[in-house]
Amino acid sequence: MKTSPFVIVSTEGMHETAASVLKILAKKYRIQLPHYRVEYEPFANGEVLPHVPVTVRRQHVFLFHPMQLPSPNDAIVKLLLVNDMLMRASVAGITLVLPYIPYLRQDRKHKPRVPISARMLADIIESNRAVERIITVDMHADQEQGFFSIPVDNVQGMHVFVEQFLIQFKKTRENFVVVAPDFGGAVRARRFAKKLGDAPVAIFEKRRPRVNASEVVSIVGEPIEGKTVIICDDMIDTGGTIRGVVSVLKERGAREVFVCATHGIFSGDSLEHFARAQVPVMCSTSIPRSADFVKHTKSWLSMVPIDSLLADAVFQATRVGGSVSHLTH
Ligand code: R5P
Repeated sequence: MKTSPFVIVSTEGMHETAASVLKILAKKYRIQLPHYRVEYEPFANGEVLPHVPVTVRRQHVFLFHPMQLPSPNDAIVKLLLVNDMLMRASVAGITLVLPYIPYLRQDRKHKPRVPISARMLADIIESNRAVERIITVDMHADQEQGFFSIPVDNVQGMHVFVEQFLIQFKKTRENFVVVAPDFGGAVRARRFAKKLGDAPVAIFEKRRPRVNASEVVSIVGEPIEGKTVIICDDMIDTGGTIRGVVSVLKERGAREVFVCATHGIFSGDSLEHFARAQVPVMCSTSIPRSADFVKHTKSWLSMVPIDSLLADAVFQATRVGGSVSHLTH
């Protein structure tokens, strides 16, 4: 019997994404990969014991794992346990498919006596020598790839959003202005604007007086009065950043406002705020959600699948001479 050199393994929360990626791989690239699901055996004290029911010896594993579920801290420990399990099961190597990676906002010492959590996370993930590559979507900052000493394919989520806008506004050929909600998002907004046919860009200057709070200080770039504005960000967490930007845009006379954010975290009471505001928001499926969540948010939130981007990245990672530059730039 011929065994595939590659196999897809998924953990709870990512089984559907992995299955959908497999379908795309089969349809678009005519490759069929085995798919195994990790099972967790829970212990009374909260520990878990992961187990994969089939041998993966000498196979290269693409491990799909959700890093926000049930919480970032739980997800990190589970990832480390599953990596250890795979290494001890004698896999040939592991490519982690982590559409969202937590802690990446903590990428520098912005005040004394705080950790650089993003760097620490990179160190602990790659301390397992079987981990060879990471496929992710929209890291908080591109340069964080440098925290890892293994290759990171940082796929740009904007590809799926741009597609949606071009379809939606095909007939009207809308004059968009793309807005970055802070200086850190300027590169992402410029890339987005370029794909929309060189749309102009405005950049907001944001201040964080404390954790989980943000204030708009100033705006640089294109005037927004009367314009159709697309705010483009890597994530919505508490929603404070986006809410602040939307209210300034409305004060300044924007005609219509749309929001695109790759990772829809929606902490605290942010869902209620967005439901009240009824500003159209698009997020990707980088953080998997239940059918119930989708149903309750559908009046303002569209979840755009990123499975095809992940499938392309996985496919290219299986090829000698494969290239992901069309996905990462
Ligand atoms: C910040 O630098 C990020 O790009 C996001 O704008 C921010 O993390 C979103 O957080 P929140 O929704 O809590 O304002």
